[in-house]
Amino acid sequence: MAYKAMKILRQTSLWHNVEMGPPDAILGITEAYKKDTNSQKINLGAGTYRDDNGKPYVLETVKKAEKMMLANNMDKEYTTISGIPNFCKLSAKLAFGEDNPYLKNDKITTVQTLSGTGALRLGAAFLQKFYPGNKAIYMPSPTWSNHPNIFKHAGFDEIKYYRYYDYKTNQLDIKGVLQDISKIPEKSIILLHACAHNPTGVDPNEKEWKEILEAIKDRDLFVFFDMAYQGFATGDINKDAYAVRFFLENGFTNMALAQSYAKNIGLYGERVGALSFVAKDEEESSRIMSQLKILIRPMYSNPPIHGARIVEQILSNPDLYSHWLVEVKGMAQRIINMRKTLVDNLSKHSGERDWSHIQKQIGMFCFSGLTPEEVENLKKKFSIYLTNDGRISIAGINSKNIDYLSHAIHSVCKK
Ligand SMILES: Cc1ncc(COP(=O)(O)O)c(C=O)c1O
Repeated sequence: MAYKAMKILRQTSLWHNVEMGPPDAILGITEAYKKDTNSQKINLGAGTYRDDNGKPYVLETVKKAEKMMLANNMDKEYTTISGIPNFCKLSAKLAFGEDNPYLKNDKITTVQTLSGTGALRLGAAFLQKFYPGNKAIYMPSPTWSNHPNIFKHAGFDEIKYYRYYDYKTNQLDIKGVLQDISKIPEKSIILLHACAHNPTGVDPNEKEWKEILEAIKDRDLFVFFDMAYQGFATGDINKDAYAVRFFLENGFTNMALAQSYAKNIGLYGERVGALSFVAKDEEESSRIMSQLKILIRPMYSNPPIHGARIVEQILSNPDLYSHWLVEVKGMAQRIINMRKTLVDNLSKHSGERDWSHIQKQIGMFCFSGLTPEEVENLKKKFSIYLTNDGRISIAGINSKNIDYLSHAIHSVCKK
């Protein structure tokens, strides 16, 4: 009998209840692109920088830093649970500013994370466990497609949205932002993209940040800043950190910050990032650190060292640092140039449609205004891949494919 039952059990697979899941909204596009055999295919889905030959770009400063690391014959021991201490200090300085009084007084606690996603996920876990206010998170609509998943996985039941983008004007819907924030229940959590909003490429200006801060103060919200593109928006790391620093300068301390070095140092696959919390004082800061460590230890024990050492070298060596600033600017500038050429080309071809917003938007992405049907036709007829919402990763455009792309967009938009 027992033998018979075992046989039946063996025949029905253990995992027959596991449904096939949908592909990731963004990474799924790259998978489809890879399978396409058209030699003119273009991938405008992935948020990864490419040089003018469409090739992945390893920064010169990264190569130099790696050489220095090799020469120093560094060991491969574990770092601490919270990461390389000097890396954490340098990351906080980069984000909050060299002379930030909160940093000087040890009121900011920073841990190394598995890139920006890891910083958001760890921050979400901390908030889920300890945040004493309303555990609902409000995100801009639209937002990066992974944001809601990250907070859901950390146990947030309430994921809500505030208006952000005006689809008619292709600009920030500041009225909508302020109206919706004014209705958020007090002491909730709000997610803000610090710069280069993904997917729209539209950021608030200084006046609008001031209005947003006032609205947030009125509702006594906790702010979770996501800064995945410092330097990538304008080419200037200080300008891009404006919002984070402005909030702090105005005494707003109820905040956490997620940083990523994927884009601005091109360390995508190295998974290097940081998570910071601002505390009331040094003692509170130590308590937060102790609990972050308790969350990290059972998840991944401690973070990887190679990428963080690269960042540490670049941010601490004055020559490398100034060279890096030039390289970030160079990447941002290539993207700005591609925006202009694309708008010029499209206006020449498809004069009846206004494409000027593409040039006004900033950062790696533009919200093109292409409809899902037009996106589908770009894929089917021209092997050009982008997300359904019409988001174009400008980093995928170069001087060799821009004419083909402009012609394709013109063709699918023709009435
Ligand atoms: C808005 C935003 N936040 C965070 C990230 C995190 O990226 P990573 O985990 O590669 O640092 C991304 C990456 O595309 C992003 O666009």
